[in-house]
Amino acid sequence: MAALEKAAENLLAAVRREAAEVRSESQGKEFRDRWMARKNGILTQVNDLWLKAAPKDAKRDVGQRVNEVKTQVEQTIVDALENKQKAASASSKDAERLDITLPGIRRPLGAEHPIIKTMNEMVGVFRNLGYSVEEGPEIETDYYNFEALNFPPNHPARDTQDTLFIANQESKPLRDRLLLRTHTSPVQIRTMEKMKPPVRVVCPGKVHRNDAPDATHSPIFHQIEGLAVDTNITFSDLKGTLDHAMKEMFGSSVKTRFYPSFFPFTEPSADVQISCIFCGGRGYRDGGPCRNCKASGWIELLGCGMVDPNVYGFVDYDPKKVSGFAFGMGVERIAILKYGVDDIQLFFNGDVRFLEQFA
Ligand code: PHE
Repeated sequence: MAALEKAAENLLAAVRREAAEVRSESQGKEFRDRWMARKNGILTQVNDLWLKAAPKDAKRDVGQRVNEVKTQVEQTIVDALENKQKAASASSKDAERLDITLPGIRRPLGAEHPIIKTMNEMVGVFRNLGYSVEEGPEIETDYYNFEALNFPPNHPARDTQDTLFIANQESKPLRDRLLLRTHTSPVQIRTMEKMKPPVRVVCPGKVHRNDAPDATHSPIFHQIEGLAVDTNITFSDLKGTLDHAMKEMFGSSVKTRFYPSFFPFTEPSADVQISCIFCGGRGYRDGGPCRNCKASGWIELLGCGMVDPNVYGFVDYDPKKVSGFAFGMGVERIAILKYGVDDIQLFFNGDVRFLEQFA
């Protein structure tokens, strides 16, 4: 009986040691199976061995004691597993706990780029007049950028456009050679090719010219083209439309002035000037000459004119039946005036300190 007690003590000590070591769920399961598996767990083996070893007349007492020890061992195991589970769920609750006093994570809001913003505003003005929006490719052919716009091959007017040509095109006929469009006017041709009059479209987009970047030049900039073709469209319609658009953009007190100019695809052609928004058209400000308009009181803003009848020949419109006007304006130039920006490069440098002001 003393030997039995000693063995029982050792057994309990062993199970407690192992119980303390259980760290994970899988370890717990292994531990439980090792001791309690019905077929050859330690308890089953102990039960058989100890009962077998007991002398015949002590079998009853030994059996009772063995049962007690078994219950104790089983309880130890069950307790150990339960504690393990409690600890695990407590720590996962800790992790899930929400501290509503913590400050939130601030996500900076994106803002429309000032050029896109200006472009959308201008497009909006013309949408309200019933114009729709057309777009065209930035990589154009000589035909759309020049020829169909009445720039004959080798005409000096081509030189005014500082064109960037795509290399190794010499084997193609001139009209098929590729270049980066120098203006949005090719979209006029593409639109008239696919639509019959009446046409009223604006065409916003990016254009390219071989200009060295400085405060007032950029090799990449944006334009908005306009085209209206219908029966009986006159220069008065052009004047009224652009005067309205400038007032919408710069305020109702702004005046417009049409100055004779030249473009191969319009006849007559004009440059549009608006009264200087900095000096109110007076030409002087703060007791000195206005620097923004060079004391003239006027700022040149865009080119326009009545569509040249030669252009209709390229798109199968009958110049005896229809007439129309076109205009093209630089978006950067408008944004510079509207927001008082002194360096065009700011639009392209991607400096958030500049850009976030437009949020
Ligand atoms: N495409 C011309 C330019 O970029 C502007 C223009 C457009 C002029 C439409 C007249 C009519 O200089």
